[in-house]
Amino acid sequence: RTDRHTSATAVAHPNIALIKYWGKRDEQLMVPCADSLSMTLDVLPTTTTVHLAPEAPADSVTLDGSPARGEARQRVVGFLDLLRERAGRAEPAVVDTRNAAPTGAGLASSASGFAALALAGAAAYGLALDRTALSRLARRGSVSAARSLFGGFAICHAGPGSGEAADLGSYAEPVAAPAFDPALVIALVDPGAKAVSSRSAMRRTVDTSPLHRAWAASCAADLAELRAALPRGDLDAVGEIAERNALGMHATMLAARPAVRYLSPATVSVLDGVLRLRADGVPAYATMDAGPNVKVLCHPADAARVADAVRDAAPGCTVLTARRGPGARLRTEAE
Ligand code: PMV
Repeated sequence: RTDRHTSATAVAHPNIALIKYWGKRDEQLMVPCADSLSMTLDVLPTTTTVHLAPEAPADSVTLDGSPARGEARQRVVGFLDLLRERAGRAEPAVVDTRNAAPTGAGLASSASGFAALALAGAAAYGLALDRTALSRLARRGSVSAARSLFGGFAICHAGPGSGEAADLGSYAEPVAAPAFDPALVIALVDPGAKAVSSRSAMRRTVDTSPLHRAWAASCAADLAELRAALPRGDLDAVGEIAERNALGMHATMLAARPAVRYLSPATVSVLDGVLRLRADGVPAYATMDAGPNVKVLCHPADAARVADAVRDAAPGCTVLTARRGPGARLRTEAE
């Protein structure tokens, strides 16, 4: 039985960080080491339904039509436990999640996934939370998910202190930039699941990479510059900062022991294509996350040309173009 009050469906979109976070200072509470700033996309949403099943023996989690297993299931069940603890309830839940993006391919499916799960789960368990509290809650599933509660640009604060103070201080909020509406051309060079989860790759980087501290220190300056460039709608400044921030993050991983390398030959070909575009006078800037895919920031008027250049650079890759997208929302019963 699907009760109106104990069932909810939410839709959330992925976001791509222009200033990345890479490293947590509390893995239990999922608190990042540093602030991050992202753009929520208008493509590849995740749709998640949570309904409470008081009679069921345990939670049931379905991911793109198949039962979730192993760590993927455990992360969802752990999140449901958190919801139950907050709500003072015990009912198991049936969770059905559908991603328009390939799961685990570095396309932020954990961001849209936990944003949708936080919103739908809080509604199903009867938790009345404002957006800040929902963002803080989503962070417990995946730090990047805190930002997908919001549309457009969002900053996720690392917050001060440790323990409860850190948990309270770390949440996302929107960053107004009405004059900035770029395109993001996404090159899916390898839609397969990644070899190393971002969680363990981050841990290894923080624990072993001699470059991590230096990069993390550079992020604060990158963030300040980006925050000044965004409201000006200055694509070249935003793109330059985002590109160097992402390359720096990957450098920290390459220096981890053993190295974490998400960049593939196709990634590097696309990066070369981006350099050629710039040499030809097309403003285009790349960013990469915990996977081989490349996202290229450009003017909407140049998006078709950028997409062609990306296809030439990595024949066979899937290319799609995103713009600023909406924040996570609950679906009404009529939908
Ligand atoms: O929070 P996670 O586990 O989705 O990790 C996100 C890591 C990066 O995408 C590389 C950076 C970021 O800030 O989104």
